[in-house]
Amino acid sequence: MTTGAVSTGPDDPLTAPDQALVWGTGMVAALEHPARWGGLVDLPPQPDHRTRERLCAALSRVTTGGTGAGTGTEDQLAIRPAGLLARRLVRAPRRTPRSGHPWQPRGTVLLTGGTGAIGPHIARWLARGGADHLVLPGRRGAEAPGAAELSTELAGHGTRLTFPVCDLADREQTERLLAGLEAQGTPVTAVVHAAARIALAPLDTVSVAEFADTVAAKAAGARHLDALLDRELDAFVLFSSIAGVWGSGDHGAYSAANAYLDALAHRRRGRGLTATTVDWGVWRPRTHRPPADAGSDLFNLEEHGVPRIDPERAITALQQILDDDETHLAVADVDWER
Ligand SMILES: NC(=O)c1ccc[n+]([C@@H]2O[C@H](COP(=O)([O-])OP(=O)(O)OC[C@H]3O[C@@H](n4cnc5c(N)ncnc54)[C@H](OP(=O)(O)O)[C@@H]3O)[C@@H](O)[C@H]2O)c1
Repeated sequence: MTTGAVSTGPDDPLTAPDQALVWGTGMVAALEHPARWGGLVDLPPQPDHRTRERLCAALSRVTTGGTGAGTGTEDQLAIRPAGLLARRLVRAPRRTPRSGHPWQPRGTVLLTGGTGAIGPHIARWLARGGADHLVLPGRRGAEAPGAAELSTELAGHGTRLTFPVCDLADREQTERLLAGLEAQGTPVTAVVHAAARIALAPLDTVSVAEFADTVAAKAAGARHLDALLDRELDAFVLFSSIAGVWGSGDHGAYSAANAYLDALAHRRRGRGLTATTVDWGVWRPRTHRPPADAGSDLFNLEEHGVPRIDPERAITALQQILDDDETHLAVADVDWER
């Protein structure tokens, strides 16, 4: 049970992104322990007698009317004055861009996770779009494989790349990085947060320390960037995952971190600032890397009907999402028949 971990619509702001970690973990518990799984319920801040009735109804699996949501097979519910509401994933129609102008990067853009598998695709897109300076922080800094090659490649677009050493999970290091950029007269105009630690383990084997470690790079990094950049930016983009939307076995900590990112974007948007979270399906690697955990479900994606996304299509989708100033979308290549 949570309070304020989910939003049921524009008039119902999400207030407690930390509690969304419970939702991310819960969706994985549901897959790993279906026989023991109960469900997720988000309560209103001031529960009254109707809340208690609806909670009892949900727990005893009795349908109580409300807005479209009975219980029965529902395991992700919010109790609100309007009734008992059940979570749904729906197809997103293409919106008409609000400004009519495509989103364009400019000045200094902070790209975390820029030296990872997906980062170079994002860096190329930002450079093509006109960013003058890309800051790619990481624990390895310029020592990260591929950093020098990417710098040389993107210099051709007139984009300067820097690779500061920074552990984003550490607030002081992140603060120093941002203050340094301000002091140099190159304040951040936009953020793309794609740093992550992806470690897989079933919930009943993962230690609290390992769980916290996996959550930290992604969620603590996002939390620090949101707090330290509490001002309007051209974009504040969080790279999230479908694992945080519908869960994925062995992805407990990772799913929690992604659900947190999604919630954080809603809360930032609720503060009147631009914020976008994208729950990606798995991207197709540029060069084939032998999978570290071959044999896990992650590598039977075609069989599951969620083939890998072509990176160029993913980048096209990302551009559309920013053109439309969306807050939260999932982008996955889904074989619906399967
Ligand atoms: N790959 C996919 O198909 C896929 C699918 C869905 C979502 N996503 C999301 O997309 C993003 C990029 O994924 P990826 O596959 O490219 O990841 P990746 O290859 O594992 O790269 C991770 C990156 O994050 C950085 N990083 C990790 N911990 C950090 C920390 N504490 N502080 C600063 N930087 C840190 C790493 O640099 P250092 O090691 O130098 O710190 C590296 O650049 C992630 O958020 C991931 O969850 C990816």
